[in-house]
Amino acid sequence: MSTAHAAGETHQPVFVGPTRAQLEALFPKYPTKQSVLLPALWLVQEARGWISEGALHEVAEVLGLTPAYVKGVVTFYTMYHTHPVGRHFIQVCTTSPCNICGAEEVTKAFLRHTGCGELGATSPDGRFTVIEVECLGACGFATPVLIDDDFVEGVTPERVAGILQGYK
Ligand code: FES
Repeated sequence: MSTAHAAGETHQPVFVGPTRAQLEALFPKYPTKQSVLLPALWLVQEARGWISEGALHEVAEVLGLTPAYVKGVVTFYTMYHTHPVGRHFIQVCTTSPCNICGAEEVTKAFLRHTGCGELGATSPDGRFTVIEVECLGACGFATPVLIDDDFVEGVTPERVAGILQGYK
C-alpha cells in the first residue's frame, strides 16, 4: 500500500517483509525505539538507494520521531543520500591537509574519468556520483577516497582511471 505525504510524493513503504523483519531485529539491541534511527536509515538506503521525503516520513512514524528531526539527521551525514545517486558513491576528502597534497586535482580526475562533470551529479551511465567531504580521518595518507565501503588511501590523479575499473 502506498501513502501520500506532505510533498505530494507517492511512497511505497520500505518497512515491509524482510526489511521490516530487519528493523524489528534491531529494537532489542537499542535502549529506545528512537535510538534505532541511524541503522533504520541505513536499511532504507540499502533497500532504495537513497532516502526520499516519503521514506523519511515513514522512518519518523515508525520510530515515534518528528519528520523534522529525522531530516536533520539525514542531512547532517554525507553518508545518507537525499536524492538518487550512482551505483558507486565516491567521497573525496578535500579538507585543507589533503587539499595541500593535491586533493583538488584528484577530485577533478574523478569527475573527468567518471563522466559526472560536476560534484553531486550522477554519470550518464548511472555508475557514479562524486562528492567532496570533510576529513576522513586519514590525513597522513592523502588523498583518501571512500568508494562505497572501500577506503582507498594515497590516491593521485594518475591512479583514478585504474581505481574506477574495479567498479562496474
Ligand atoms: S584532511 Fe583529509 S583525511 Fe583528514
